[in-house]
Amino acid sequence: MTESRDTGAPGGRKDPFWNSVASFGLDDIFVLPEWISGLKGDKTASVTSGNIPLEQAALVSRVGDCRGCRLCEERNKIVFGGGNPSSGIVFIGEGPGANEDIQGEPFVGRAGKLLDKILAAIDLDRDSIYITNIVKCRPPGNRTPSKDEVAACWWILEEQLRIMKPGVIVTLGAPASRTMTGSSDGIGKLRGTIHRYGDIPVIPTYHPAALLRTDALKRPVWEDMKMLRKLLDELGLPGTGKN
Ligand code: URA
Repeated sequence: MTESRDTGAPGGRKDPFWNSVASFGLDDIFVLPEWISGLKGDKTASVTSGNIPLEQAALVSRVGDCRGCRLCEERNKIVFGGGNPSSGIVFIGEGPGANEDIQGEPFVGRAGKLLDKILAAIDLDRDSIYITNIVKCRPPGNRTPSKDEVAACWWILEEQLRIMKPGVIVTLGAPASRTMTGSSDGIGKLRGTIHRYGDIPVIPTYHPAALLRTDALKRPVWEDMKMLRKLLDELGLPGTGKN
């Protein structure tokens, strides 16, 4: 079950809706649940206001207390993502780990600390990217999410990308890279090349958790990050964050 905390929401609400809004980093926006409550549980409805915080809040409401796959049974919090949704850059990992499940934020554990160093090496930080995962609930024991779990969660990521309209996607590890490229190749084969999700360039690289285990993967990740930096410079990203 999603745990409630005081998010500073209007009227001091303490309920799962506002808790989830906070997990999107939207504590500071004023969105009345009444505006969007009609969308709850409706995966087909969408708001096309072009206002990212408002659309994200509507998506959080639609996800609600999701029971779409077995991952809901042991999860503590749904982890939607974090960072700057207007930056134009979206990193996609595999799924929340134990720390993320407790805190409701992505990449807060050891892999996240390494990711911060990787980002810093190419002049990025958590405020200049948005980061999310292919599944929003923790796979028990940090196992790889199954195909049906990824499929059940796909509509949420698809909506997030429709709302944010990033200029570049970076996928971390095989499950995210396969999901976003539609290929069944291994990450060793997928990385090093720019793929596409629709019109959006996708740069696959190794997951930082793999780097924690295998030093030799640091060099290819550095090559991928140099490729990312070059592409960002060409595209004039990250964005202003003013959307
Ligand atoms: N690993 C992931 O893939 N995602 C997280 O949020 C944390 C660790």
